[in-house]
Amino acid sequence: MIVVKTIKEVRETVKQWKKEGLTVGFVPTMGYLHEGHQSLIKAADKGNDRVVVSIFLNPMQFGPTEDLATYPRDLERDKAKCLEAGADLIFAPEPEEMYTDNFQSFVDMHLLTEELCGLTRPVHFRGVCTVVTKLFNIVKPDRAYFGKKDAQQLAVIKRMVTDLNMDIEIIGCPIVREDDGLAKSSRNTYLNAEERKAALVLSKAVRKAEELIKSGVRESADIISQMTDIVNAEPLAKIDYIKVVSLDTMQQITKFTDSALVAMAVYIGKTRLIDNYFYEGE
Ligand code: PAF
Repeated sequence: MIVVKTIKEVRETVKQWKKEGLTVGFVPTMGYLHEGHQSLIKAADKGNDRVVVSIFLNPMQFGPTEDLATYPRDLERDKAKCLEAGADLIFAPEPEEMYTDNFQSFVDMHLLTEELCGLTRPVHFRGVCTVVTKLFNIVKPDRAYFGKKDAQQLAVIKRMVTDLNMDIEIIGCPIVREDDGLAKSSRNTYLNAEERKAALVLSKAVRKAEELIKSGVRESADIISQMTDIVNAEPLAKIDYIKVVSLDTMQQITKFTDSALVAMAVYIGKTRLIDNYFYEGE
């Protein structure tokens, strides 16, 4: 496995692979990898000849009061996780490599970014779209892999790739959970023992949504109200949102038939966690 810090080195390596007729899978990350990221790397390894993983804590997608400064980092640990999962190249640039002093260009999106996390994190998706576009231009992968835990991000990236005619296949991979149900997240490391226990209300509420939908409930208000009761029963939890949205537009829907995304963001103490249930029909 190669570890590089410059755009030039990534381009040279990928160019050589392409010359040899090899396909390239790409997994963009912000580091502090867990089994969720490793499942993306493994999927990329299965579907491609070579796998590139980027490790870049992108300052542009964090608001001024968010956790950029405290976000966990450990490149040595990340290298071991990448190697174990089957990566061939890690791109771990410094911020100056990605954003020069005179940086002026941004990729922005309407509608899909306006609900859910976009409401409480107004600059977030502009930062995500901009950095992912840059990374796609640097790596030029055949396929890129994103987790379904960040369901809105996955929908936004799919829309961006279609709208801007990027010749990359976007693949969404299932949420990976701890044994007790908590969705894996680098931010879980912020939780103390008491908060870690309290955080189980998210997966409990998501399971309730799944159960209700599987039993035939299609009214969003019924699902949201039962999930809200579960979260509100936990004193350390504070709801940011629990919503049912269309998979295509990320706009709220009151009733659904074929598909829907039930998405939630909840503060456990100071830590904001997300979870969701994708309903994609019977
Ligand atoms: O999902 C993430 O970790 C980030 O939003 C991404 C896609 C790596 C862009 O910085």
